[in-house]
Amino acid sequence: MNILITGGTGYIGSHTAVELIKSGYEVTIVDDLSNSSADVVDRIEKITGTRPSFYMCDVKSPDAMRAVFSHKKIDGVIHFAAFKAVGESCRLPIKYYSNNIAGTINLLSVMNEFGCKQIVFSSSATVYGVQKTNPYTEDMSLMAVNPYGTTKLVIEDILRDLYANDREWRIAILRYFNPIGAHESGLIGEKANGIPNNLMPYLCLVAKGKLKQLSVFGNDYPTRDGTGVRDYIHVVDLAKGHVKALGYLEKHGGCEAVNLGTGRGYSVLELIRAFEKENGIKIPYRITERRPGDLAEYYADPSKALRLYGWKAELGLSDMVRSSWKFTSQND
Ligand code: NAD
Ligand code: WQD
Repeated sequence: MNILITGGTGYIGSHTAVELIKSGYEVTIVDDLSNSSADVVDRIEKITGTRPSFYMCDVKSPDAMRAVFSHKKIDGVIHFAAFKAVGESCRLPIKYYSNNIAGTINLLSVMNEFGCKQIVFSSSATVYGVQKTNPYTEDMSLMAVNPYGTTKLVIEDILRDLYANDREWRIAILRYFNPIGAHESGLIGEKANGIPNNLMPYLCLVAKGKLKQLSVFGNDYPTRDGTGVRDYIHVVDLAKGHVKALGYLEKHGGCEAVNLGTGRGYSVLELIRAFEKENGIKIPYRITERRPGDLAEYYADPSKALRLYGWKAELGLSDMVRSSWKFTSQND
C-alpha cells in the first residue's frame, strides 16, 4: 500500500511517515516546505532505513498534484498540509481559508479524478469551540472560535458531504488534542519558527536560553492550580493513531470523527514541573494576564478511538517533556 502524506515533512507528518514505514507501508510525501525543510526526508530515512518518495509541491496546485498521482499509484492519503497558527489566522483569515480549505478541495478533486477515495484528515479539538463539560466527546456540538478553527470545521463538513453523496469514500477525521514530544532519536520534532505561540516550543526555547522566561497565561482559572489544563499527547502516540485509522478504513470504510487524546489533563504548572524534574533544568516563569480566547480546561474522551481502532495513548508526560527537550537541545 502506497500512502501519500501531505505536509509529510512537518511535525506530525514526519512522525507519521516513520510509523507508516515501520508498519510496512510505502510512503510518498508532498510538502511545499512553507513550514519545514527537505532534510526531514533524510532524517526519516536515517530512522527507518527507508527513504520515502518526496515531491516539493503545493497541494493547491492541480497540475502538481495530478503529476504526483500520475507518477505513483496512491492507495490512500493522510492530509496534514495546512497552516496552523491561531493568532495569524485572525490577522490573515484569507491566507488560512485559501491554503487550508482551497488546498483540501484541490486535493479531494484530484483524488476523485484518480479514483483514490481513502483519506485521513487532521482535524483539531478546536472544532469543539467552547463546551460546558469535560471530557469532550465526538458527538458534542461543533463551533469555530477563530478562522483556523473555521477551516477545520468547513473541511470536516466537506468530507461529510462527500461521503453522504458517494459511499465509496473512506474517511477518518482525527481530532487531535495538544500534540507535544518528539521521536526518541532526537532527529525529528517540532521546529520553532521565530517566537512560538504554543506552550511546549516556547518552554523549550526558554530552557535553551534563547528566550528569557516563560509567561504563564493566567493563574486564576477554575482549575486545580489556577492555570490552564490541556490534554497533551505524545506525537509518536498520535502518529500511531494514524496507522490504526488507516487499518480501520481498509476494513470498514465509513466517515467517522475520532478524538486522539490521552483523556487526562495537565496544567501549565504541572507541565513546567515535569519538564524541570525530567530534564534537570530550571524554567524561569512569571504569571501574566490570561491570553484572550483561552479556555480553562479541556481534555478528550478517547474511548471511541479504542473502540474503533484499538488505539490508546501509551506514553506519559515524562516521555513527552524528555523527548521535546532532546530534540530542541540537539537541533538549531
Ligand atoms: P506543521 O506546520 O509542522 O506541518 C504542516 C506541513 O504542511 C508543513 O511541513 C508545511 O510546509 C506543509 N504545508 C502547508 N501548506 C502546504 C501546502 N499548501 N502544500 C504543501 N504543503 C503544505 O504542522 P503540524 O503540527 O505537523 O500539523 C499538521 C496538521 O495537524 C495540520 O493540519 C494542523 O492543522 C493539524 N493539527 C495540529 C495541531 C498541533 O498542535 N500541532 C493540533 C491539531 C491539529
Ligand atoms: C496550552 C496552555 C495556554 C503558551 C492550540 C490551538 C489548538 C491546537 C493546539 C491546532 C494554555 C498556556 C501557552 C505560553 C502559557 N492547534 N500557555 N504560556 O491554546 O491549548 O491549543 O494548539 O489545532 O487549536 O489553539 O495550546 O500550547 O498554545 O497552550 O501559559 O507561552 O498553555 O494558556 O493553557 P492551546 P498552547
